[in-house]
Amino acid sequence: MLVLGIETSCDETAVSVVENGKRILSNEVLSSLHLHKKYGGVVPEIATRHHVELINYVLRAALGKAKVKLSGIDLIAAVHGPGLVGALLIGLSLAKVLSLALNAPLVGINHLQAHLYAALMLKRRPQFPFVGLVVSGGHTNLFYVRDYLIWETLGRTRDDAAGEAFDKVAKILNLGYPGGPVIEKMAKCGRPDKIRFPRSCLEENSLDFSFSGLKTAVLYYVRDSFGRRASKKSIRNTKIADVAASFQEAAVDTLAEKAIKACLLKGVKNFVAGGGVVANRRLREVLRRRLNRRGIDTYFPKFGLCQDNAAMVAGLGYQQYLRGIVSNLNLEAQPNLTIVPKRKRKKEI
Ligand code: KG4
Ligand code: ZN
Repeated sequence: MLVLGIETSCDETAVSVVENGKRILSNEVLSSLHLHKKYGGVVPEIATRHHVELINYVLRAALGKAKVKLSGIDLIAAVHGPGLVGALLIGLSLAKVLSLALNAPLVGINHLQAHLYAALMLKRRPQFPFVGLVVSGGHTNLFYVRDYLIWETLGRTRDDAAGEAFDKVAKILNLGYPGGPVIEKMAKCGRPDKIRFPRSCLEENSLDFSFSGLKTAVLYYVRDSFGRRASKKSIRNTKIADVAASFQEAAVDTLAEKAIKACLLKGVKNFVAGGGVVANRRLREVLRRRLNRRGIDTYFPKFGLCQDNAAMVAGLGYQQYLRGIVSNLNLEAQPNLTIVPKRKRKKEI
């Protein structure tokens, strides 16, 4: 079965063709990141315009690379939340038009579930149930995943997402946007134990996250160490790499400790992570080491499937369709879509 995946929840315009939930025939992504850089974050209006202007081009490229005609597509899968409402509507409108014109079924996909599915597209794949961690620019969530349809939210961030913290710390350090890749690069030259930034645990049994305190601690440290009026140059010339490494270590430590807690609570032997921040090698290394030590296997997506893409969407669409989950043309864009456990078969959502 050939599935066309569409992803426009944030700043990536992405279309992909995937066969039987696993074999990626094409995976086209055009990011509007360069247009947001000068604002230090994604501007919804700009992201939406980018989708409008380029989605047809990306669609043609995805079909061309897969060597598939539109008429050969069996199923359409599109992200309908969470995300920026204007951006979501562009992908969703295209999906509905194609579904109608091709008489192909439509499946609405949750962006967070798709991020974890990226790790299930590997040859070596986890067994259900598992604990899943989604860490991106907009989300930091822990899930208990019983199967493709039954998900339980165990914890989420109460303020900033982990990726957002990387982006904001990079801004404080004048390193540009997005922050994750540049912080990781700087951290390689710094000492992670140089500054002890706080690890927020919240209440004793909580699996929620909080990253705003960490971000503020970095801000105060930079102000105290380099002065309120520190120029870009003077900051760069000092121990900026130590700040980056120490911040990264605190963020990674927090994510890893909550992941362990969730796995022990649920008694699972498999752990899966997904989302842009999982491109971070230090995060992978710490998660792998600490979880493996406790007999828990770890699964991460290929690096190219960590950030927003449509292959993960098409792949998950196939699995949901097999289990009787299809949508109709009333499917809505839901900016705050949450995960509700489903056990509906042959029923429209
Ligand atoms: O999943 P994603 O592409 O988009 C959202 O759904 O938000 O994630 C983007 C986020 C950004 O905050 C970016 O700074 C972060 O992922 N990121 C990283 C790395 N690469 C991207 N964070 C830490 N280390 C990285 N290597
Ligand atoms: Zn994402």
